[in-house]
Amino acid sequence: MNLILMGPPGAGKGTQAERIVAEFSIPHISTGDAFRAAMKQGTPLGVKAKEYVDAGLLVPDEVTIGIVRERLQQDDCKGGFMLDGFPRTISQAEALDEILKSLDSGIDHVVNLKVDRGLLLARLTGRRICRSCGATYHELFNPPAKAGVCDKCGGELYQRSDDTEEKVGTRLDEYLNKTAPLLAYYEAKGLLRELNGERDIDEVTAELRSLLRGQD
Ligand code: AP5
Ligand code: ZN
Repeated sequence: MNLILMGPPGAGKGTQAERIVAEFSIPHISTGDAFRAAMKQGTPLGVKAKEYVDAGLLVPDEVTIGIVRERLQQDDCKGGFMLDGFPRTISQAEALDEILKSLDSGIDHVVNLKVDRGLLLARLTGRRICRSCGATYHELFNPPAKAGVCDKCGGELYQRSDDTEEKVGTRLDEYLNKTAPLLAYYEAKGLLRELNGERDIDEVTAELRSLLRGQD
């Protein structure tokens, strides 16, 4: 199954993707994760991405599309994949159509997680991530058993540099200006499915699961 998970920053894409890819045994392709990994390693891609990610702005299309093209050509994507955080502009969506066409493939579902802007700010500023395994927590909504420590691996939890109130504002504006128009793009193709992302994490997962299994 070839899936795209959409939604504004903080909608819960990463949280849900982590659960769904484990269940459907498909790779999780997050452009945000790819940029953060490159930034951590200090590769040329990381150096380039850093100036945009740290400012809360979208990385230029040609850089982002190149990464996804390379990733989708790998063998483990043949049985399906979940894209999280890509595409984010109309140009990226058009490029994705081309890439998949060249691979004799296509998109099965585009799921949009809908969450109100006021709630997004609280979700993002309270988010904490494990330095070792990448698991996501929230100080209030999904806290670890022991503050600052990952339940899964005992790793240290940290706050992303773009999760400050000021950067979140910029990211939400980028979303509204450049990414929200994509909803109409996929609606017109008959692929778009909307999901209420404001309920608790388990409820959203249950609904997403049944939507993907065709039981809703
Ligand atoms: P990226 O990493 O993709 O960030 P994002 O889209 O801003 O999304 P987030 O990761 O912030 O949120 P999420 O929806 O995954 O929410 P999460 O599950 O963590 O991108 C970062 C940057 O990289 C961009 O700004 C840009 O610079 C660059 N970039 C990436 N892709 C790009 C592209 N295609 N083109 C150009 N540039 C690109 O949840 C958030 C918090 O809420 C967590 O703490 C979680 O525990 C909690 N939570 C989740 N669900 C619930 C729930 N149902 N109830 C209560 N709490 C919840
Ligand atoms: Zn961990």
